[in-house]
Amino acid sequence: MRKNIVAGNWKMNKTLQEGIEFVKELKEVLANDKTNCEVVVCTPFIHLASVSTILEVTNIGVGAENCANQVSGAYTGEVSATMVASTGAKYVILGHSERRAYYGETAEILKEKVELALANDLTPIFCIGEVLEEREANKQNEVVSGQLADSLFSLSAEDFSKVVLAYEPVWAIGTGKTATSDQAQEMHAFIRSIVAEKYGKEIADNTSILYGGSCNPSNAKELFSNPDVDGGLIGGASLKVADFKGVINGFNS
Ligand code: PGA
Repeated sequence: MRKNIVAGNWKMNKTLQEGIEFVKELKEVLANDKTNCEVVVCTPFIHLASVSTILEVTNIGVGAENCANQVSGAYTGEVSATMVASTGAKYVILGHSERRAYYGETAEILKEKVELALANDLTPIFCIGEVLEEREANKQNEVVSGQLADSLFSLSAEDFSKVVLAYEPVWAIGTGKTATSDQAQEMHAFIRSIVAEKYGKEIADNTSILYGGSCNPSNAKELFSNPDVDGGLIGGASLKVADFKGVINGFNS
């Protein structure tokens, strides 16, 4: 069965001290409350070891926001998948549109990153999504299926089944302009159909597909109620415990 997941993506926010404070508070808030989804916090590299230690005995997962496309060596400033895994993190966001747009991450580079993440037992949360002009030209399906094919579809079925997908329409990220519940469902169903064509219905049915883009406490419940929306990748609303909890509550009741 596929899992429901709410994953926070802090992006380039929070000092180490602020990050530690956040997870201590989150741990306390979630300890008294049954959640109907898996909760993950994805943090900058510098927070990973401390955050993993604090969350060790909880069922809150920890992830990185990126990893290198090389194993090790002379790559100043980079952090490898092995290093990420050594902190206790279990997830890594890959293919985020900000990485693609601002850091030149190509489909080929992302393919290498996904392979290294999997080789280190990290679960990639792989982001796909179209920009506004592509949506306006009704090319969103083509864009998203190309992103899947170019970076993921050379994986074996076994490896692909370890990947979590996140559909993030770029025009909805940080803009306050959420995809409508119908737009999200339509795209998620399309993504699942593409996965089914490539890997078969069983794997497609078991793939978690998260929605990302201005998801917040007031729209989470409606978005998550769609049959093909298995949770969210949350930016802005993951920075305050109360907001993040509000999104997680989208799966309660
Ligand atoms: P947002 O970001 O929730 O702030 O729109 C989502 C993301 O980029 O993962």
